[in-house]
Amino acid sequence: MENERGSWGSNIGFLLAAIGSAVGLGNIWGFPYKMGKSGGFTFLLVYLALAVFVGFIIMMSELALGRKTGASVVGAYHAVSRKFKWIGWLAMLAPFLIMSFYSVLGGYCIEYMSLNLSNLAFSGAEVKTGSDLFGAMLTNPFGCAMFTILFLVVCLLIVKGGISGGIEKFNNIGMPALFIMLVIIIIRSLTLPGATEGLKFMFVPGYAVKAGFISEAPGLVTVLSTAGGQMFFSLSLAMGAMVTYGSYLDKKENLVKNSAVIVVADTLVALMAGVAVIPAAVANGIAQGIALSDIKLGGPSLLFVTLQDVFQAMGRVGPLFGVIFYLLVLIAAISSAISLMEVLVTFFLDRAKVKGRTGSRSKITLWVSVAILAEALLVAVDGLGSNGLWLPGQGGGATIAGWNDCWLDFMDCWSEGIMMPLGAMLMALMIGWEIKPKSTLEEINHGVAGSTSGLDAFYSVCIKFVVPVAMAFILAGQMISFFGEANSVVCYIISIVILFAFWVVALLGHSKKEN
Ligand code: PFF
Repeated sequence: MENERGSWGSNIGFLLAAIGSAVGLGNIWGFPYKMGKSGGFTFLLVYLALAVFVGFIIMMSELALGRKTGASVVGAYHAVSRKFKWIGWLAMLAPFLIMSFYSVLGGYCIEYMSLNLSNLAFSGAEVKTGSDLFGAMLTNPFGCAMFTILFLVVCLLIVKGGISGGIEKFNNIGMPALFIMLVIIIIRSLTLPGATEGLKFMFVPGYAVKAGFISEAPGLVTVLSTAGGQMFFSLSLAMGAMVTYGSYLDKKENLVKNSAVIVVADTLVALMAGVAVIPAAVANGIAQGIALSDIKLGGPSLLFVTLQDVFQAMGRVGPLFGVIFYLLVLIAAISSAISLMEVLVTFFLDRAKVKGRTGSRSKITLWVSVAILAEALLVAVDGLGSNGLWLPGQGGGATIAGWNDCWLDFMDCWSEGIMMPLGAMLMALMIGWEIKPKSTLEEINHGVAGSTSGLDAFYSVCIKFVVPVAMAFILAGQMISFFGEANSVVCYIISIVILFAFWVVALLGHSKKEN
């Protein structure tokens, strides 16, 4: 099987793997918190609208590009475009950078799972608060590095097994298990006294401000860009993952249905994850007498400080729920990380084939893992800035706003903040104006029974107009979130200039190709 590209064993196997890629840390710590903070139900509506008009369209486009070309993300863009073939490289670099911190966070999950396991086995041992534990973990670079290596080894072993023998097999078991564990945590969370306050934070418009969780509601523009950025990361778009997974998909499968299922399942899990973590975190905060504004409801501290405190406050059964919860998060992290890794592995496998060499998946996976480890060690040793590792842009007391906090932010700023929205904007311009929607629609409509004229029209309008404009907006929003509100005008101008410049490029590209 060494130089065989392979394919998914079944459509459901593909779906579970794609849902696995989408469901990750972003669903658990990003979505619920951003939803509560940004107006609850209002945010959900904005998120859903963006998911339908932008996310669903890009999902179909990426799967179609992959399946049409049967190639890695670099090969796919090279095959269809003259002017935008270089986007493939952007979509390769972004997952590489994301892996630098995703594997460290995965390592933290393993560490917390083992910790709860040992608390379970040796009850009566000294109990530390979540923040003491987190602090001790971050300031132990050697430990963080070891757990990062462990996480990468697990991913390596899965990816080495191939598409159906590794990735599909893992997700076939991992996804249903994740779902069951999520339901268990939801039941426990909702039965804690005070849990309804957490539900209100998530779902009732304006409640976060009224109850005092946050002091001020964000404006509509901020809500739009927050929801857009979150939707992108959560659906694993513009990272080559869906192009790569699509390249292994059989021609007879229905891309429209598959894309819809992935978008719906990812959103559902994000909502379920919110109901699992936020009410528990809020209930515990209230019980401990912590001011609502001081309860950490998002980011790494939600997972590794607030929730650890929740489990410790549950007494004897706490560590058991802790083990279940961190295992659930770990599975979500692995299923996403393997899709990021596969983007790189597929690229090198295809490249070997083009050069007439026998590419060994095992060897390629090993080298890709080593390269990821090299950058991940920076993030691991830095310990979210706790250990003061030097960072580009820092020095002499002056720092570049936005990414200056730690290596994780630095990597996240470039990948999630810039490359991801930029890549999606360029891809929409390429499909909409250079190669034309018809070229991807042919692939999208393959395997769809009945008339497709309604879908064709919807797709064409979205990919030509709605997606590029939305992406310019999301790009500006992401840049503002990293470079600060003070630079918002500059961020908008840069974004609009990029949009128009590449729109012109796409138009020129089209006329050239036709001649
Ligand atoms: N969707 C993942 C999450 O929500 O955590 C992150 C991710 C995975 C982004 C794979 C991009 C990707 F290609």
